[in-house]
Amino acid sequence: MSDLHSVSRGDIERAAGVLASGGLVAFPTETVYGLGANASDPEAVARIFSVKGRPTDHPLIVHIANVDGLERWASSVPKIARQLTEVFWPGPLTVLVDRAAWVGDDVTGGRSSVGLRVPDHTVANAVLDSFASLLHDQPAGIAAPSANRFGRVSPTTADHVRADLGADVDLVLDGGPCLVGVESTIVDCRGVVPAVLRLGGISLERLAEVLGALPDVAGPTARSITSGMMPSHYAPQARVVLVALEGLFANVTDQTQRGFRVAVLAPAVVAGLPDEAIELEPAGTADNYARVLYDRLRQADRLGVDVLFVVPPSPDGIGAAVVDRLERASAASDGE
Ligand code: TXA
Ligand code: MG
Repeated sequence: MSDLHSVSRGDIERAAGVLASGGLVAFPTETVYGLGANASDPEAVARIFSVKGRPTDHPLIVHIANVDGLERWASSVPKIARQLTEVFWPGPLTVLVDRAAWVGDDVTGGRSSVGLRVPDHTVANAVLDSFASLLHDQPAGIAAPSANRFGRVSPTTADHVRADLGADVDLVLDGGPCLVGVESTIVDCRGVVPAVLRLGGISLERLAEVLGALPDVAGPTARSITSGMMPSHYAPQARVVLVALEGLFANVTDQTQRGFRVAVLAPAVVAGLPDEAIELEPAGTADNYARVLYDRLRQADRLGVDVLFVVPPSPDGIGAAVVDRLERASAASDGE
């Protein structure tokens, strides 16, 4: 068995048992930590919504052990879904497909589609395998949104989960910090052309390599069908303001002079900031920016920051997902 971090084989089996008996397990994936329940158990799924404080018409992603699950949870598998999952599973890609007739309204928010993904994390994969073996021949899926309260910043460590959800989860598996750090890319595979509903761990450029062209990125109206697409998502308590490097000094000076507690997050060290401004550890390359983003947003809150000025990464590759999350965090700060 490959590295399970600080999780033991016994913990994996316990997690599978908790899921099979209707409980909630928070577990690491390569993107963010998920709050998992048996996707075929309506009462367990209802607990996810109540613990998260999430409206029940917002659908959940169903995590499956391998590509065979696609056939079982979907009524039919479009060619595009097949192509994309062949290349990107296990990995940070969620495909939307028409749901099989038996799949519940509770997990899909009453929609005719279901979101499916095979994650890429030794702990998540071990839990999925162990859970599937407990269910014998029944289709095994773990419904799991990010393990944070609705609208807040997604967790990328077990400590983030514990800080957010505390005793409301039956078991938290600690698989270390998530390596991707932003959520999966969601691709609606049901149309003639695929549509990206959420930017995430698989970049548009990588999708284009498989599809032969850049996919459509759904505009705000279509995207609002996914709850993670609400403008006010991914928000810390601090007001988040996106700013170009050139404008940083003047903005920071203005806000510190007005008496606000100010912090700065940027890809690299910024010279010459006023002494009162807190400079968070630089976020580095786009890949690293994605990995540390949510932890830095949480850190700003722990430090009691009023205004967080953020210099974003360049918006290509995974940088596009980082910019997307930062824009949402900043829209939330505007009271949207
Ligand atoms: O990386 C991820 O995707 C993480 C990890 C835990 O796998 N999960 C995650 O789940 O981000 P959540 O619930 O926080 O965000 C899932 C998004 C929501 O915006 C939801 O509305 C959308 O996926 N979604 C899921 N199923 C859908 C469906 N059938 N139709 C439209 N949107 C769907
Ligand atoms: Mg979420």
